[in-house]
Amino acid sequence: MLRSKIIATGMYVPPRVVTNNDLAGIMDTSDEWIRQRTGIEQRHWAADDSSTSELAFEASKKALENAKMDKSQLDMIILATLSPDHEFPGTACFLQRKLGVPGIPALDVRQQCTGFIYAMSIADQFIRTGMYRNILVVGAELQSKGLEKNDNGRDVAVLFGDGAGAVVMTATEVKDPKKDPHVLSTHLYADGTFAEELWVAAPGSANSADRIGGDDLEKKLHYPHMNGKLVFMNAVKRMPEALETAFKQNGITMEEVDLFVFHQANLRINDMIAKQFGIPEHKVFNTIQKYANTTAATIPIGLDEAVRAGKLKPGMLVASAAFGSGFTWGSAVYRF
Ligand code: ACO
Repeated sequence: MLRSKIIATGMYVPPRVVTNNDLAGIMDTSDEWIRQRTGIEQRHWAADDSSTSELAFEASKKALENAKMDKSQLDMIILATLSPDHEFPGTACFLQRKLGVPGIPALDVRQQCTGFIYAMSIADQFIRTGMYRNILVVGAELQSKGLEKNDNGRDVAVLFGDGAGAVVMTATEVKDPKKDPHVLSTHLYADGTFAEELWVAAPGSANSADRIGGDDLEKKLHYPHMNGKLVFMNAVKRMPEALETAFKQNGITMEEVDLFVFHQANLRINDMIAKQFGIPEHKVFNTIQKYANTTAATIPIGLDEAVRAGKLKPGMLVASAAFGSGFTWGSAVYRF
């Protein structure tokens, strides 16, 4: 049975740490409010001369190093981000150039917080069909430059951080599905009814002739706007649904999963899901306290941190789920 598996992880966050108290110095917020509502204690912000592809490059180098794989063996790059280097071409092309692997396909995925699950699923399909063997799958975000860092934008600005995570996925012949590392399933969903509930409206072709103009800037359409309560309510419904579907399809129980590496939007979301399913605390690996929401990068960062913390070991069964802008959501179940 030809399947895909993750053989290595890597991550990178820029060195500058921004604490909740630092934010309280530039907008009307407090460490207490942010911690209580989200679990976030700090985040990392990149330097002004940095870029999403640069963060992605650093994480990718580590993943390739950990995979003991030469970059020339890569067949494809898939990069998920909501904070691209430029409008076009895709950030995966800039990453490909930095890695020095011209020729191989480089694909951008724009599914925001669910971006990494979508990217993983795409890689899994290409590998299952036998088209490619080795795919670099990256989630990378430089969000700090795009946040409204004042009282007006405080509801969103405190939530996000910069960072990148990468995994190397490779083809594998699965003989014993109960033991051999492989991706068991991915489930992807979207509901565009809610597209404007969490979005950056401009620039864009649906706007005025210049894609951004008129009073778009005054209206702050180039900053993210979010209906936080609606996102929260949908996240705690949709993530469990996507997990339950996956468990049913794979004929496994929640108890069989060794580690849950969820998207990191809010610690309360993950705590509610864990409580709902009766998942013991030690089986949920959260990183939001240190990195805040790094959107497409949260899951690969979580995987890499879990490996380095000795919490994620070869042979373990892992479940991931994410929810975000679009709305989009999904799950992935994989033996590591
Ligand atoms: N500091 C202090 N006060 C604030 C801040 C802040 N940073 N932001 C908002 N407030 C105020 C509001 O003005 C409001 O005040 P009011 O009651 O006087 O009007 C009040 O705090 C709102 O508080 P709550 O109703 O308790 O807020 P809530 O519990 O909804 O928490 C939060 C807000 C944390 C944003 C929550 O809704 C959430 O986490 N939502 C989901 C976020 C998410 O999952 N995003 C998806 C991922 S992002 C992606 O896909 C790109």
